[in-house]
Amino acid sequence: MDFDPEQLRNESEVESKLIVQFLLPALGYGPNDWHQEVALGNIRLDFLAFAVQHQPFVLDGESPLSLTIEAKSPRKSLDGFERRLGQYLSLLHARYGVLTNGRDFRIYCLRNRDLVLMFRCAGRDIAANLASIRSTIGREALRHRSPQSEPPTSALSANAIDSPPSKQPRDKTMKIIAIYHNKGGVGKTTVTINLAAGLRNLGYRVLLIDLDSQANSTFAAGLVKFQFEDDDDLKDCNVSHMLSSRDEYPIEQVVRQSQGFNSPEIDVIPAHINLIEKQYKLDSIAASRSRLLGKLGRVADRYDYVIIDTPPSRNFYAQVGVISSQYLIIPSDLRPFANQGLANVCTFLQESNEYREDKNLEPCKLLGVLPSKIATNSRFLNSTFPKQKAAITEIHKLPLFDSIIYERIALSKSLNYTEENGDYDIPAPQSIFEFAKSDVSANSSASEFEALIHEVIEKTQ
Ligand SMILES: Nc1ncnc2c1ncn2[C@@H]1O[C@H](COP(=O)(O)OP(=O)(O)OP(=O)(O)O)[C@@H](O)[C@H]1O
Ligand SMILES: [Mg+2]
Repeated sequence: MDFDPEQLRNESEVESKLIVQFLLPALGYGPNDWHQEVALGNIRLDFLAFAVQHQPFVLDGESPLSLTIEAKSPRKSLDGFERRLGQYLSLLHARYGVLTNGRDFRIYCLRNRDLVLMFRCAGRDIAANLASIRSTIGREALRHRSPQSEPPTSALSANAIDSPPSKQPRDKTMKIIAIYHNKGGVGKTTVTINLAAGLRNLGYRVLLIDLDSQANSTFAAGLVKFQFEDDDDLKDCNVSHMLSSRDEYPIEQVVRQSQGFNSPEIDVIPAHINLIEKQYKLDSIAASRSRLLGKLGRVADRYDYVIIDTPPSRNFYAQVGVISSQYLIIPSDLRPFANQGLANVCTFLQESNEYREDKNLEPCKLLGVLPSKIATNSRFLNSTFPKQKAAITEIHKLPLFDSIIYERIALSKSLNYTEENGDYDIPAPQSIFEFAKSDVSANSSASEFEALIHEVIEKTQ
């Protein structure tokens, strides 16, 4: 885009520069595929685009997938136009609608007569999000989507979570995914918590398990709000207790609801700093390795996804995490140290799989290395980053995720969010999706996580 959408001066500039000159061509709609100023009965649409139909068009219950676009003046908030857009979509049997005033860009979908906000970003981020936008309402994407089918979950963004969780057609088996790398600080916890939150937002039943004595996932889920040791209610009932006995401390006893982290909240098995002192004993008892597996087996009908955060080491807890999982995601910043650690991760996975094989379990499958904390400057993205990605597939011969988690300030802000409480600021960490509800700068990151979640769902079907 060689103009700044946020500098457009009026509705007519939004229509001409943003929609006609940029958006429609970028989404693959040629001049014959869209119409401007369409009057249908009492309805006046700014734009109506068709993925599969040219003039004369027919709009009825059988009508093909189509897209309406409403442009507004940059001075007007889009909130007041939602209802009318919902009525238009419903009356016209159209599925998708875009509302934009140049500064705010939103995609809606009509699902079971409800208008669902699928995607939202600031005007300046439209170009950066073009791939997700195209996969949602691009002409090619719509041509290959049947009129009855749901829009892709990848398209659902931060703001869609205001709507009730959708009823996804479900593969009933519980999926257990470990997030692991023995290199520290590569984004394991950040990926874990937002993956868990995003799956929950799509209506999946999610259990997050923290196996790291740093307890960063536990903190992120809002479970460490106490100020004094005396108030620490985690030390006597956490994941280490679950691992210390076959029959005591079942999941329902140890599990907590996250607090203020996400809406809807998620279930969490917390960790604690005292995992360190318990490790020696647990490690010396062979049976303790399989206890998590056993306990998860007993809640298999209660969760769709179990996401496990692991420590940056090859210790007992990391072993338990990988041994208990069917899938592994390796977040990595793709820098030399992280890459050098990959051979260790692979050996570790192999050893864990020997254990699984002894227990007659399918091997834990590596879903891929996930580029994480990736710098957004274009010189890096054009020169170094492609080589770093190639190193994963060509030198390390490992699968790579298509999704990328970029380094975004909003991600660390969402985790370090605090609330005032009398004399104290108490931690009030939020998922990126929750944070995006009040801070538009989080939208890009939320969309990137949506893409990841879609890819994870696909890879675990
Ligand atoms: N994509 C990102 N953009 C910006 N900051 C990030 C991103 N991912 C992680 N961070 C920040 O980097 C630091 C390390 O991230 P995180 O705790 O997720 O890594 P980790 O691999 O779990 O670390 P550890 O190995 O210590 O458990 C945190 O301060 C986090 O806020
Ligand atoms: Mg961590």
